[in-house]
Order: sequence, then C-alpha cells, then structure tokens
Amino acid sequence: MFENNQAQLNDVDFEKLSNFIYTNYGIKLPISKKIMLQSRLASRLKANKMSSFTEYTRYVLSGKAGEEEIVNMIDLVSTNKTDFYREAGHFDFMREVVLPGYIAKETNAPFKVWSSASSSGEEAYTIAMVISEFMEEHRKFDFEILGTDISSRILEKARTAIYPMDRVDVVPLAQKKKYLLRSKDQENPQVRIVPQLRARTRFFRLNLMDNSYNAPKDFDIIFCRNVLIYFDRETQEQVIRKLCSHLKPGGYFFLGHSESISGIDVPLRPLKPTMFMKI
Ligand SMILES: C[S@@+](CC[C@H](N)C(=O)[O-])C[C@H]1O[C@@H](n2cnc3c(N)ncnc32)[C@H](O)[C@@H]1O
Repeated sequence: MFENNQAQLNDVDFEKLSNFIYTNYGIKLPISKKIMLQSRLASRLKANKMSSFTEYTRYVLSGKAGEEEIVNMIDLVSTNKTDFYREAGHFDFMREVVLPGYIAKETNAPFKVWSSASSSGEEAYTIAMVISEFMEEHRKFDFEILGTDISSRILEKARTAIYPMDRVDVVPLAQKKKYLLRSKDQENPQVRIVPQLRARTRFFRLNLMDNSYNAPKDFDIIFCRNVLIYFDRETQEQVIRKLCSHLKPGGYFFLGHSESISGIDVPLRPLKPTMFMKI
C-alpha cells in the first residue's frame, strides 16, 4: 500500500487562498481547481517548512509572508501557455494595416508595442520579427517592445530568450535563419533570439490589477491576449480602461480569441473580431 503523505487543502483554506489571489491578482480559481492548487502549492509548504495548508494560508493572509513568497505563489498558479505566432490574424493585421499606417505618417517617434501579459516572451519576439520583416520590405524606423507579466519566473525566461527547437516550428524558415541562433547541443536542441531583436525588447513585472501602470503613455499597439479570461467583467473593464490610457489616440488594441468587450464600457472601436482602435 502507498501512503499519501501530501498535505491536503480543505475547502475553507481553498476559499481563503483563492479569494486572496482573486482580489489581489484577478486570477479566478473555481473549486474545480482545488487539487491543482494543492499540488502546485505543495512546494511552497516545503520551502517554508510547513506541514499544513492551514498554516500556509494563515501565513499568506496575515501579511507576514513577504513580497517574495507572494511572487513565488503567483508564479505557481498563473497559466503561462503561449506560442510564437499565436493567433496569427493579429500579426497579419499589423503587417497589412498598422505598420503601413505608421510609415505613411512619416513621424520620427518610435513605433511602440506593449505585450501586456507577455508570458515567456514568444508574443513580444513574434512582434519584433514582424516589424523587422516589414522594415526589410519598406524602410527602417525605430521601434521598442515592452513585455510585462505578473510572473517573475516567466519573465526571466523571456529575458533569456532561449526556447526549445520544437517551439519555433511555426516560425517561417526565412525568419528562423535571420532571427534565431541555433544551439550546438544535438541532445537538447534550442534556439535563442538574435541580440538585435533582444535589444529592442525589455521585460518587467507588472500586475494588471494595480491601480495605475508605470509604463509609457504612447503605445501604437497594446496586446492584451488570453489574460482577461481570468478576470470578471468589472475587472476586465477597469483593466482595459487603464491600458487604453497608455495608447496613442488611434492606437490599436488586441484581445485573445475567446475575449470580447461586449457589454463593457471602454473607449475602443471594434475593427475586426478581437481587434480595436482607441477612440
Ligand atoms: C495564457 S498566458 C498568455 C500569454 C500571451 N499573451 C498569449 O496570448 O500567448 C497569460 C499570462 O497572463 C499573466 N497574468 C495573469 N494574471 C496577471 C496579472 N494580474 N497581471 C499581469 N499578468 C498576469 C500570466 O502570468 C500569464 O503569463
């Protein structure tokens, strides 16, 4: 017989922890996620030398757990699924509408894009590749990409910009040759984004639930994809409103495929499904 030595998370502690996570980070955890939360947080109990979730819950809710513990906890509960060229329609729209519109203005202001739930950086580096490709076919201009996320662990990956080879299958071959460096290790094939694209991209931690965002106010595009699904309608409205205040007038805003602004009051004009322009 096997003994189950793992600490169990009871419904009361689950409710307390999930409320805390939802109130402070907007991440909804329905009761169906209890076992997931229990297994993901088991390592935090061990790290804090605690034997029960009741003790851990009390520690987190008491405010005695420092910022570092909260960051570690959120790292474990956030879902970071992402891909290069995920939801490719947004990148086609950039190439066909947004970037031609930008060069037509003949401005000297850099083209600025914010990947506001960047996860491990695939979205930000796809944007960098699309812009670089466009510049090759048209003309050169200055551009900057900001990636932010709540998870510091995932942001470290984004900064390192190293990915397993199979993650970049979707990147067109010509772009792979220009923008990806291959590791020599045959056992563990990896690629790294080239320094010239990394230099255009910076990452820092930012909680979309914060009252205001410490970020520039003049973005040409904000990507806010596959993060609002975790938030309720009221929080979605607040987050989109705050993000819109960082867009240029006429700037573009992209949501994930299962997200919408229907029924919420935000200064955005729909252009195509999940694509909007700031009013
Ligand atoms: C599913 S990933 C989406 C990544 C990328 N935008 C895409 O569509 O491929 C969601 C990301 O949102 C981040 N996230 C969750 N809550 C957040 C919050 N309150 N503030 C900032 N980022 C958050 C998670 O850490 C995760 O990396």
